[in-house]
Amino acid sequence: MSHALSESLLERIEVVTGDITRQPVDAIVNAANESLLGGGGVDGAIHRAAGPRLKEHNRTLGGCTTGLARITPAFDLESRGIEHIIHTVGPVWSGEDNAALGSQREDVLLASCYQQCLDLAAQHGIDTLAFPAISTGVYHFPKQRAAKIALSHVLAFLTSHEQPRKVIFCCFSEDDATIYHEAIRTRHQWMSSRLTYRPDDPGR
Ligand code: APR
Repeated sequence: MSHALSESLLERIEVVTGDITRQPVDAIVNAANESLLGGGGVDGAIHRAAGPRLKEHNRTLGGCTTGLARITPAFDLESRGIEHIIHTVGPVWSGEDNAALGSQREDVLLASCYQQCLDLAAQHGIDTLAFPAISTGVYHFPKQRAAKIALSHVLAFLTSHEQPRKVIFCCFSEDDATIYHEAIRTRHQWMSSRLTYRPDDPGR
């Protein structure tokens, strides 16, 4: 990947701090549970802002399995310019912060959430998409670990897709935003080091 490409890739992501229901984007991702009928946290905020039609609609969907995603209209959120909600169900962290199969399985499920949401966004021609920090609240997924998974899978997807054009990581606190900024800085350093150190390059 050229240095310019890596720069342009990083321009397609942004970290913001605030309420995801107030982001000026085409679609927002909801960190839901398997029922899709609402709950606390960002799920509660999105259902409150979208209004009762969202729950009524979701009753017809038959739920969503952990790691997968479903797209719905945004209902009352359309008044804020948001056209779609992509609901995904993140893994509950088991608490084994090591390489045990359990935590790797949870890493894979969280990565699947990001991949499934991005696939749906691309299929529906969504230009700008905001993610919350999936699974890092009630589901207790370690925040730094989740941010690295989110960043690597979003960047990998954007490398091979024109849409979504822009992905926003919408954090609910400055501390959470700092975690994402640090993950991006670390990733940028790694990408730059891979792009500059090529001793066998005749053009050096
Ligand atoms: N905007 C953006 N982010 C938010 C908002 C909001 N309005 N409200 C909460 N968050 C953040 C939390 O601070 C956390 O960083 O969203 C992230 C995800 O936390 P949760 O909402 O608790 O979601 P999760 O950890 O995936 O747990 C999902 O919680 O609310 C229930 O029904 C939901 O059972 C499901 C579970």
